[in-house]
Amino acid sequence: MLPQGFASRSATIDDADAIYRLMAAGEIRWHGRAEVAADAVAADLQRPELDRERDTLLVEAANGDLAGWAWLHLAKRAQIDVHPSYWGLGIGTALLDWAEGRSREEGSEWLAQAVDDADKAGTDLLRSRGYEVLATNWLLERPITTPGPRNVPAGVTLSRYDEARAHEVYELIEGAFSEFQQRRKSYDEWSRLTVERSTFRPDASTLAYADDELIGAVIALDLPETDEGYVQQLAVRADQRGNGVARAMLDDTCAEFHRLGRRDCILWTHSGTGALGMYERLGMRVRRSTTVYRRTH
Ligand SMILES: CC(C)(COP(=O)(O)OP(=O)(O)OC[C@H]1O[C@@H](n2cnc3c(N)ncnc32)[C@H](O)[C@@H]1OP(=O)(O)O)[C@@H](O)C(=O)NCCC(=O)NCCS
Repeated sequence: MLPQGFASRSATIDDADAIYRLMAAGEIRWHGRAEVAADAVAADLQRPELDRERDTLLVEAANGDLAGWAWLHLAKRAQIDVHPSYWGLGIGTALLDWAEGRSREEGSEWLAQAVDDADKAGTDLLRSRGYEVLATNWLLERPITTPGPRNVPAGVTLSRYDEARAHEVYELIEGAFSEFQQRRKSYDEWSRLTVERSTFRPDASTLAYADDELIGAVIALDLPETDEGYVQQLAVRADQRGNGVARAMLDDTCAEFHRLGRRDCILWTHSGTGALGMYERLGMRVRRSTTVYRRTH
């Protein structure tokens, strides 16, 4: 039940900018700055398997302001955000009721969602409903003060992203991530979330080769309103790990970010990947985190 004076409808692609501003307002309130990217919202709204009519819900105030929104991905993952101006009115609870109802309706046995660790109200709401901690996401940062070293392991060459190898990059990344991801993305889904985004930076993205075979990849994005470079994905082929390929690629991408005038390199990593230890060895530090909560219906 929405509080009085608010109305709901499903989202269209044209709502992407308003949703982005709503999410950024929350991040600014909690952390003093926003890391969410406008084109990430647009990419999410255009995921091939998302039914926007049924799986998104916007809450609007009487003056037309977007007060909150929720989306449900494959009946199992929800994201819910309320604009700080409308916190404390019960909009988050109404959106959670909707997401849980839709998830059950679709036959899912559980629902999970990530909540910013600074979001005390959201955390309390999920805990009061019996949600349990499933995983942690960390936002990591590394200052880029100098161009940095580029120690490339023997027999390995690095180069910029090459569109002609897009399908190989997809295979390599999805292959590496399949070790902990529940679902393999189609090429179409992966490319819309990465190399087809307007913020994708092929000139900061790094590919690693042994002979002519692709053995590693970094997908880099620009975060428009910041002076930070963003690493969206990093993977090394299983048989080439432990040789310093990830270190060399990350240094290379950071050096390109430096050339582009970026001050920090940032990325998100998930506790399920086990990669936090590696990133810490590569000089990255935790800036903030979110917790993934899950409840069985
Ligand atoms: C994580 C991954 C990219 C590491 O690639 P890699 O080429 O083996 O890494 P490197 O050899 O460059 O290792 C760099 C440093 O991290 C350390 N390291 C590597 N994996 C580690 C791990 N799981 N835990 C702790 N330290 C680790 C290495 O010992 C090395 O440290 P050193 O140089 O001080 O000895 C690779 O295992 C992978 O593709 N995994 C699947 C995809 C993934 O998890 N991507 C990142 C998630 S966002």
